[in-house]
Amino acid sequence: MSVDRYGVMGYPISHSRSPVIHRLFAIQTGQELQYELLQVSPEKLEPAVRQFQRTGGKGLNITVPHKGEVTRLVDHLSERASTAGAVNTLTFKAGEILGDNTDGFGLLRDLAVNLELALEGSNILILGAGGATRGIIGPLLEMQPASLRIANRTLGKAQALADHFSRSGPVTACRFNVIPVTENYDLIINATSAGLSGEAPPYPAAAVSRQTVCYDLSYGLKPTPFSIWAREQGAAQSLMGWGMLVEQAAESFRIWRGVRPDTAQVLKQMTISA
Ligand code: ATR
Repeated sequence: MSVDRYGVMGYPISHSRSPVIHRLFAIQTGQELQYELLQVSPEKLEPAVRQFQRTGGKGLNITVPHKGEVTRLVDHLSERASTAGAVNTLTFKAGEILGDNTDGFGLLRDLAVNLELALEGSNILILGAGGATRGIIGPLLEMQPASLRIANRTLGKAQALADHFSRSGPVTACRFNVIPVTENYDLIINATSAGLSGEAPPYPAAAVSRQTVCYDLSYGLKPTPFSIWAREQGAAQSLMGWGMLVEQAAESFRIWRGVRPDTAQVLKQMTISA
């Protein structure tokens, strides 16, 4: 019998750690599977997904820049994927495509379980108002923070997200550079893509206190510009998104294989090798 096939589609994709993570999960849980790295440009997304399905593929992770676009190809969208407006996990079953989003779940698991942060009653600031932000607002609001502010360079995008989620919790929006200095944040999440291009926008220094945990959704071999900046501001902790990466992958693995891997062990291996 052939081995079950999985993979990750993105553009570019060579930097992706997903194959390593899923191989470690497979070894740890005694599962036999294959996990491929698939570089697919935006105009080839649909044929590439269809071909993967036609040739017996079992599941795909979908990453930048396809997470929004791929929702069009899905037959059944999970509630959390629908809320996020984005899909990062496809499952091929009985001729249908199921779409889910494990990003928000992965972040929350890292914050609440791995890092043991108490988010209930906390004040949270998210920098950026793109797809990454949209995917994490719902799960963050479920933790019942006292406030969640979205700050963005372009106010309109932050305001649109705040309006969209205002029924689910205390969400407000402001421009990137006018965050009220009187506000104390327990958690600041960088969800801008600025670091990817090596840019360091004027992050709001006044929002950081010695109690603030700063978390960059980006991660890298070297500290990201945001994580360096957070350390310089004297934040209580400055973290990169390795934990979220491993946790979202574990949730995809659980959806596909029905077993939840032990993430602590894999996270240690990932950050040691980084
Ligand atoms: P993603 O899916 O990773 O969130 P995106 O939807 O393109 O990507 O969103 C990128 C986010 O990073 C946006 O909030 C963007 O701000 P604008 O809405 O004003 O464009 C933010 N961003 C990117 N580069 C930035 C920079 N140099 N300074 C400040 N914000 C930046």
